Amino acid sequence: MYKSIRPLLFRLDPEAAHQLTLTVIRYAGIFPLSRWIVSQLFRPPLKPVQAFGLTFRNPVGLAAGYDKDAVAINGLFALGFGHVEVGTITPRPQPGNPKPRIFRLVEDEAVINRMGFPSRGSEYVQKRLSHIRRVGGAILGINIGKNKETPNEEAVLDYLVLLQDFAPHADYLVINISSPNTVGLRQLQGHDALSGLLTQLHAQRQLEEQKLGKRLPLLVKLAPDLAESELDDAIEVILQTRMDGVIATNTTLAREGLRSTRRGETGGLSGSPLAARSEAVLSQIIRRVDGKIPVVSSGGIMSPDDAKRRLALGASLVQVYTGLVYAGPGLVKQIVSSL
Ligand SMILES: Cc1cc2nc3c(=O)[nH]c(=O)nc-3n(C[C@H](O)[C@H](O)[C@H](O)COP(=O)(O)O)c2cc1C
Repeated sequence: MYKSIRPLLFRLDPEAAHQLTLTVIRYAGIFPLSRWIVSQLFRPPLKPVQAFGLTFRNPVGLAAGYDKDAVAINGLFALGFGHVEVGTITPRPQPGNPKPRIFRLVEDEAVINRMGFPSRGSEYVQKRLSHIRRVGGAILGINIGKNKETPNEEAVLDYLVLLQDFAPHADYLVINISSPNTVGLRQLQGHDALSGLLTQLHAQRQLEEQKLGKRLPLLVKLAPDLAESELDDAIEVILQTRMDGVIATNTTLAREGLRSTRRGETGGLSGSPLAARSEAVLSQIIRRVDGKIPVVSSGGIMSPDDAKRRLALGASLVQVYTGLVYAGPGLVKQIVSSL
């Protein structure tokens, strides 16, 4: 069915198409009958996976950035995902970069985005999450990031506030320090900055766990553009500071081998051209973590075969985003059924 809808969606500006689909998914998730119909259509078989002390009903999740303000989680759960990661959420509302800021590279099965964390802010999303009754049984991840205006030296305060704000709502939290669209953000992946940040977040996490009487897994999302030694350093810090997992990877600044005329746009590249790099980074991380913590693979998973390869390389879970733009929401069921 998506094959007949896609040409119409692709005639729209990419961000408008995204807003439209998100709104449809949102409303489908509000009413019990439409939610039931969607979940019947898209229900994948059960393929449970354990990771970070949580049981996922299947290993396929929605990557961050699709539902930044957590407006459509019940509709998204109905599409069959094992987990949905909302965000990136920033402490205070911010508009993100000027539009246009999302570009389709159809010939390359790719997207370039320079959204820059548009977010309605922590308070809005907390309110939404406390009013919404979650139905559908998927795991909810919450991805957090600093405001644009917050200098890196004070970034830890933004992340600490967000950790406290979302500890009651999240099954797991993701510390996003890998978006290429917030100036300087990725410097937080450097050894010393990362060590300072994660040490404080781990301490705060322990307090929240005591207060709430539940575990609060913390994951770190990394960029695909780190050099081998930088990646090794980051993993060493992640293990030392008792993080629960890694998401590899975010979008890339690399532009090799693209055919589309849009390849010159600035921003992060996702989709098929990211697959090889994301896989290489995944393999390196799997070697370095040596089974100590689970790794989530994101980047260029466009088909069941792509997902199977990541799981065979040692990923515990996979996440999709650009694959949904090109293959449609049926991709989740296709992947899970193929496993
Ligand atoms: C339009 C768009 C917005 C995104 N926004 C975020 C975000 O807010 N936070 C984040 O951690 N990743 C974000 N990402 C990155 C995705 O979560 C994912 O890691 C990346 O796109 C690679 O996966 P893919 O090739 O399956 O799309 C975004 C990606 C796209 C295409």
